[in-house]
Amino acid sequence: RRLVVLVSGSGTNLQALLDEIAATGAEAYGAEIVAVGADREGIEGIVRAERAGLPTFVCRVKDFADRQEWDAALAEAVAAHEPDLVVSAGFMKIVGKEFLARFGGRFVNTHPALLPSFPGAHGVRDALAYGARVTGCTVHFVDDGVDTGPIIAQGVVEVRDEDDESALHERIKEVERRLLVEVVGRLARNGYRIEGRKVVIQ
Ligand code: GRF
Repeated sequence: RRLVVLVSGSGTNLQALLDEIAATGAEAYGAEIVAVGADREGIEGIVRAERAGLPTFVCRVKDFADRQEWDAALAEAVAAHEPDLVVSAGFMKIVGKEFLARFGGRFVNTHPALLPSFPGAHGVRDALAYGARVTGCTVHFVDDGVDTGPIIAQGVVEVRDEDDESALHERIKEVERRLLVEVVGRLARNGYRIEGRKVVIQ
């Protein structure tokens, strides 16, 4: 299976996938990353991709007349690599209709909270502010909402009294990276069906 991974920041989830595939071998893992895309320049996620010798592309919203044109360009840039599965690993943009028309049903996102709690760009901060005693991470298919698509897997992380946002986020990411590696491998190796809100992995 061919994976395209989209990033916006440090890319440690991307790195976890790269390390797993290097350790296991693409054959046994069931997938290889064929390209990495981003919505901004100068991020570590792109450096990690270049270090791994992967093709990269950057689609910045401000380079396009409007959001719809950006969305179409992003879809084109991803499609050029003929992915079987697209993985949003810390990609901080909401894709639009055209992208979903082409990749819906094979576009997976990882979110650092237990959806449907705390969707959006500040899931870790929101869980902390709310006083949640447990939070975690969710790997789900992307639909036309914000963090609302069918859930594939979740991992639970205790919130500690001394936690601030970055400490909690770092602890969530330790679980999240393992969860994403496991889920992407299973989707790639076994195939899957989406039945309403249920995801069935063969
Ligand atoms: C992840 O926790 C992801 O869920 C969130 O931002 C973080 C990205 O981390 N959207 P990285 O770029 O993979 O290190």
